[in-house]
Amino acid sequence: MAEEFNITVLPGDGIGPEVMAEAIKVLRLVEQKLGLTLKLEECPVGGAAYEAEGHPLPESTLKKAESADAVLLGAVGGPKWESIDFSLRPERALLGLRSSLGLFANLRPAKIFGALSNASTLKPEVVEGLDIMVVRELTGGIYFGEPRGIETTSSGERKGINTLVYTESEIRRIAAIAFDVAKKRGKKVCSIDKANVLECTGLWREVVTEAHKDHPEIELSHMYVDNAAMQLVRNPNQFDVMVTTNMFGDILSDEASMLTGSIGMLPSASLGEKHAMYEPIHGSAPDIAGQDKANPLATIMSVGMMFKYSFNREDVHDSLESVVESVLDAGYRTPDIMSDGMKQVGCKEMGDLVAKGVEESLG
Ligand code: IPM
Ligand code: MG
Repeated sequence: MAEEFNITVLPGDGIGPEVMAEAIKVLRLVEQKLGLTLKLEECPVGGAAYEAEGHPLPESTLKKAESADAVLLGAVGGPKWESIDFSLRPERALLGLRSSLGLFANLRPAKIFGALSNASTLKPEVVEGLDIMVVRELTGGIYFGEPRGIETTSSGERKGINTLVYTESEIRRIAAIAFDVAKKRGKKVCSIDKANVLECTGLWREVVTEAHKDHPEIELSHMYVDNAAMQLVRNPNQFDVMVTTNMFGDILSDEASMLTGSIGMLPSASLGEKHAMYEPIHGSAPDIAGQDKANPLATIMSVGMMFKYSFNREDVHDSLESVVESVLDAGYRTPDIMSDGMKQVGCKEMGDLVAKGVEESLG
């Protein structure tokens, strides 16, 4: 019997629906080529869901996501919803999905394609061969810690509060993921903290060091986050896997993405015990939405990660990556990665080029 998978599709806001359309084009082709059955169900999320149903993460969307084999998300957010109540902002949908689905491990690969070593703002010799995996803790830390909020003190002044909290078990499980990921790569893990100032990340360092005892074949190092931010632009090739807290991972993964030339190139996987969600790491880019200018490659490669981590088809992941590589080698570029002498294409045409490559290379 043909393998069957249920996928919840959440296009979201801004360029989300455009990049999603291209990813689905590729997904359908893979389905056909491999003789799979993919059941795609599209649901509203983010600002689009707020407009339609008054909430960025409607109950029905969450239910579908909970019952799916995997969730594919475009992007959420936009200026239109910046002034509404915090609890109803599009971003809350993302945080709600991560926490309700228990997606504690966020894998963000920053890998440079040879053809794009010129697209980085860093010198090509610094970023050449770059292949880093940021493993970001995604359901804890200051993003979710209590107490939080804005209070008024007795003197009538307002006070903003967020709390950085990690339990040993939360640290241990993300460290285990980082060691496992490193096993299939360069066998090096660098754990990023601020143990010189924050007790919570002092505990982080201690627990990661303990967890390492089960993985003697992996080389473990520790680095303060300020130094890591600096080392990422000084000599990024020293890193293989970087494991870190929710907020440090948010920041460092954006930084790492720019080493590859464009944030528009990077996919991600958010994994939990039972569920998984895949999304490009870029945002909704409202400034270019609806103009056929977005780069769909991050979402297409998120589909690749879905095949690797949810459907146990690393071969499909690798094929998609090499198709993307050959499209770039042939000189095609969306505006975000455009450079002299290259052929500029829009979002749709980039999707078509990848689809054509898949058509030729798969099955
Ligand atoms: C990301 C984003 C989100 C985050 C926002 C949109 C809530 O920046 O996925 O990196 O901070 O986690
Ligand atoms: Mg971010």
